[in-house]
Amino acid sequence: MEKKKTVYSGIQPTGCLTLGNYIGAIRNWLKLQEELEEYFCIYSIVDLHALTTRQNPALFRKTALSFFAQLLAVGLDPEKSILYFQSHVPQHAELTWVLNCFTYVGEAGRMTQFKEKSRKHKDNINMGLMSYPVLMAADILLYQTDLVPVGIDQKQHLELTRDIAMRFNAAYSPTFTIPQPYIPKTGAKICSLSDPTAKMSKSDPDENATISIIDPPQAIMNKIKRAVTDCESVVEYREGKHGINNLLTIFSAVSGRSIEDIADEYRNKGYAAFKNAVGEAVVEELRPIRERYEKLMADKEYLMQVIRSGDEKADRIARRTLSKVYRKIGLVER
Ligand code: TYM
Repeated sequence: MEKKKTVYSGIQPTGCLTLGNYIGAIRNWLKLQEELEEYFCIYSIVDLHALTTRQNPALFRKTALSFFAQLLAVGLDPEKSILYFQSHVPQHAELTWVLNCFTYVGEAGRMTQFKEKSRKHKDNINMGLMSYPVLMAADILLYQTDLVPVGIDQKQHLELTRDIAMRFNAAYSPTFTIPQPYIPKTGAKICSLSDPTAKMSKSDPDENATISIIDPPQAIMNKIKRAVTDCESVVEYREGKHGINNLLTIFSAVSGRSIEDIADEYRNKGYAAFKNAVGEAVVEELRPIRERYEKLMADKEYLMQVIRSGDEKADRIARRTLSKVYRKIGLVER
């Protein structure tokens, strides 16, 4: 039998877990988890990544736990996948240091996300912001990952990860598996409901711009009703119709129907009826998640037990890779 492929991905616990995160990444996490014969999945709350911007400690702790519960609520299963906290496995920070020494300042400075975040947080362009994709490379490479299910915005970081891994392998001998991105065909970039030319972002201060996967049904309906569209009235997927294209993409992703099929049905029915149908489809997709989430959050002890067990499994794998790296670069054994 062929060896199972290792799947790795992570999410930063800030703001709210959005429909964009869900459609762009987490649904694929689930899909791969269910193909047990083929994939071995590891998913992480990447809390260290969130430190590149200032967090309120009490809120940060609460958000991180809530995100973990939301991962379980969508159906990620600790019996099938390893689910853990990045900060609980110290090898992430240790490998980052080594990989920092294999990453050029020029490469890190060219990352779109670094440039965007530097523009947004002019008063706090810290070293962590620059080293952010190196920590992400460490996450992925520690587990000898084959596949990384992410949205399109992470593709550039994946390319850098591959470059760093190949550079290290060439300097020593094959040490890291070279990972591949796994990006959905529909929904790799869900856009903001208020500005459909921009990505839906979990830290957007405008509440109407994003849908959280645990928003109550009425809030979801209202947000979709208010979603910015255009001044035509034809429902079709076309260059320039950003708002409608986004809603069609969301509808298609949650219903499994093709965009053409949906456009055919709603083409001349007006935006109000179309938005209502999109809202209902999203509500139905998210309803069971919200219900499970509430039960999970009421049982902190269970959550902590699941986290601890995931941490231990992750630590065992990460330890193996890090000691291999230390040996190859010539550090004296402990
Ligand atoms: P993060 O926390 O911003 O987002 C988590 C995942 O959601 C995807 N995503 C989206 N997909 C479609 N439409 C959107 N509007 C949208 N917004 C976010 C992201 O592509 C991502 O897959 N650097 C990563 C976290 C990370 C990671 C890793 C990922 C750290 N280490 C190792 C994979 C492997 C990030 O900030 O994702």
